[in-house]
Amino acid sequence: MHNLRRAMIDRQHESRRSFLKKASLAGVGASLVGGASASTASAAAGAAGSGAAQGPVVVSSLNGREAAQRAIEIMQDGGSALDGAIAGVNLVEEDPDDITVGYGGIPNEDGVVQLDAAVMDGPTHRAGSVAALEGIKYPSRVARLVMERTDHALLVGQGAQDFAKMHGFPIENLLTERARELWVEWKETLSTEDDYLPPHDIDDENIGAIMQDATRHYGTIHCSALDPNGNLGSVTTTSGLFYKIPGRVGDSPIIGAGLYCDNEVGAAGSTGRGEANLQNLTSYLIVERMRMGDTPEAACLYACRRIDEKTKMARLRNDRGEPNFNVRFYAISKQGEVGGAQLRGADDRMIAADASGVREIDLAYLYE
Ligand code: GLY
Repeated sequence: MHNLRRAMIDRQHESRRSFLKKASLAGVGASLVGGASASTASAAAGAAGSGAAQGPVVVSSLNGREAAQRAIEIMQDGGSALDGAIAGVNLVEEDPDDITVGYGGIPNEDGVVQLDAAVMDGPTHRAGSVAALEGIKYPSRVARLVMERTDHALLVGQGAQDFAKMHGFPIENLLTERARELWVEWKETLSTEDDYLPPHDIDDENIGAIMQDATRHYGTIHCSALDPNGNLGSVTTTSGLFYKIPGRVGDSPIIGAGLYCDNEVGAAGSTGRGEANLQNLTSYLIVERMRMGDTPEAACLYACRRIDEKTKMARLRNDRGEPNFNVRFYAISKQGEVGGAQLRGADDRMIAADASGVREIDLAYLYE
């Protein structure tokens, strides 16, 4: 089996094992782990609250089990939603075994780990983000400093690193031996299909990267939280597309794409093919749909349909005419309802947590 695929599967199994251990230690019943059907996803996590806000509640991508637990604990200790979400994702950013985020993330085409992250704070409606940041283990913390200690919303590249250094962050080598070996293997088996595209038309089908190529991923962690005061906070952090063109920035650090948070309504964020999300500003769309009355799950499905409708290029559709890539969305309402959806895949899940424990719930989907 390809080393990369093995690494992803090992990571999923390890993560599940440690979650089950934690769940039993915390007294979280096995029935909570079983998850709800897509149609009951909102209600399942809605156990966390319907009607008035009843934080703490957290939603996260599936790699955020421990992150969600940490976020809940931070909020129970008096931290804000943003404190909790950032402390949660820090666990994943520093984890060398998660090869889609922070330290240990898969590098770009040149073997350099470049990180993207964004945070958004509900009560102040401020946001901060960093893109193509090198050598800093906790990009989400730097994004928060951009929000709190500058008059800007986004710093990139060397400027972002200099800013982090100014605030005392050490510059570290983020390329683990494991990630380096995977990168070398990829480089040594390069096909003719990469991210560079020759001139092509809307109808050209076999152009560029194969979206379903199992060796390229857009792994990321998104985490949104509602604290006991009814305030929202969100964070998305990633090492981005595996082996990306140096300087490529995905959706994660772009406010409205990788995340969005409106303290009167709800919060949303994404993982998956960032380009599709950038072209549709879908996290913003989800929050606006919730403002119009959609449940979180319905709003996420609406966003998936929007991406489906707006995917015009033949090379991005499979034989059945469906998008040949995936994007996942996670959302939480001001009332503490949660839900998520994805473009493709019938049996994927997300994390929902509240004071009673951490659950996996099904993601709704457009296509199997
Ligand atoms: N959604 C992560 C990325 O596209 O970089």
